[in-house]
Amino acid sequence: MYGALFGSAVVRIILFAGKGGVGKTSVAAATGIKTAQMDYRTVVMSLDVAHSLADIFDLDRDLLDQNKGQPVEIDSNLWIQELDIQEEIQRYWGDIHAYLASLFNTAGLDDVLAEELAVLPGMEEISLLLYINKYVRNREFDVILLDCAPTGESLRFISIPTTLEWYMKKIFKVERKFAKYLRPVAKRITDVPLPGDDYFQAIEDLFNKLKGVDKILVDPATTTVRLVTNPEKVVLNETRRAFMYFCLYKMSIDAIIMNRMLPDNVEDTYFKCWREGQQHHLEKAAEYFNPVPIFPVNLFGGEVIGYHYLEELANKIYGVKNPLERFSKEEPYHFIKENNGYHLKLKLPFVLKKDIELNKRYDELVIRIGGFKRHILLPRQVAPLQSVKAKLEEEYLNVFFKGGDHGREKG
Ligand SMILES: Nc1ncnc2c1ncn2[C@@H]1O[C@H](COP(=O)(O)OP(=O)(O)O)[C@@H](O)[C@H]1O
Ligand SMILES: [Mg+2]
Repeated sequence: MYGALFGSAVVRIILFAGKGGVGKTSVAAATGIKTAQMDYRTVVMSLDVAHSLADIFDLDRDLLDQNKGQPVEIDSNLWIQELDIQEEIQRYWGDIHAYLASLFNTAGLDDVLAEELAVLPGMEEISLLLYINKYVRNREFDVILLDCAPTGESLRFISIPTTLEWYMKKIFKVERKFAKYLRPVAKRITDVPLPGDDYFQAIEDLFNKLKGVDKILVDPATTTVRLVTNPEKVVLNETRRAFMYFCLYKMSIDAIIMNRMLPDNVEDTYFKCWREGQQHHLEKAAEYFNPVPIFPVNLFGGEVIGYHYLEELANKIYGVKNPLERFSKEEPYHFIKENNGYHLKLKLPFVLKKDIELNKRYDELVIRIGGFKRHILLPRQVAPLQSVKAKLEEEYLNVFFKGGDHGREKG
């Protein structure tokens, strides 16, 4: 019955990202339970090496281990998948892994260590991207929920398609030609093996299998990001950084899930300070993440484990809302690089110039409009720039950053 609502041609992908321990896996699993109940074929995929999907669903680990990293159907319309890098290496990385291992081996490392090291950072992430692309191309699932690795790693994951595209365009062809001509010569003068053409062929095949996945990830009608966080300073700061990076990658963030809020019926004075702190951080979060809505979720009385509690968690998060909805359709802001500085553009409808007050602290811009505040964390290149000028044009506020060390005009 919901199929018609979303158009059956569109697969929906949601990434759940955030710091370790905030509740990503639980929230992803809870969401999956809901969408499966709505008759969508749903897969919850885990990219975290500390795989915990099986634990959270309270399933026997063997069930997943036996399935060698392929999706396991655990309920009607609901699959879970924990990638197994060893299996992926055999499936996708054979020639590439073999070459790298031989390289490390030549460097004098023993066989086992060389093989271990030949699993490069990024291979796991690329494997996940290969699955996403395959699932979307073949329409194997209606809903793909990604339980991301802790923040830093999931940011690397979203940068992979762009980096790879660059590598293929700028480096790959040259390297391949270079290796072809040099191989006979190199053999005579060094033991270090140059990659064979099967290595290059394997890279090219992978690249072709990945084609299009970058478009899928930045298409807001398909993919959105939900940042899972807790009402604590340290956690929130990391979430702000993630928020900025996802914005820079032009991925659409459509909700902030503020997990582990102390429920109102906890009245013990011991928790008074916690409660006040949480309330403060919840208010701060509105300033940081506007216009993206915040969904507060209570701390449960115990761990959220098993179908029943996960279903309850989903109800706490979404209430009567459809979890597949795009909860925020606005791009919070974007940065544009200009000749000698950067331009921040953000939508601020219904405000007058005289009501806006801008204040730049080192790596953040505070925009005050009457009693309302909005904080924007600045990217590394923008933070040191001293000169800040703003211009309100129709419903957009444009802020120009120039000057400082990085802003010197090129003569
Ligand atoms: N709202 C909540 N109330 C109580 N326990 C929670 C809540 N959300 C998550 N947990 C528990 O916190 C632990 C970590 O959650 P998990 O989803 O594995 O975090 P992550 O995937 O971000 O590392 C788990 O034991 C989970 O049951
Ligand atoms: Mg997890």
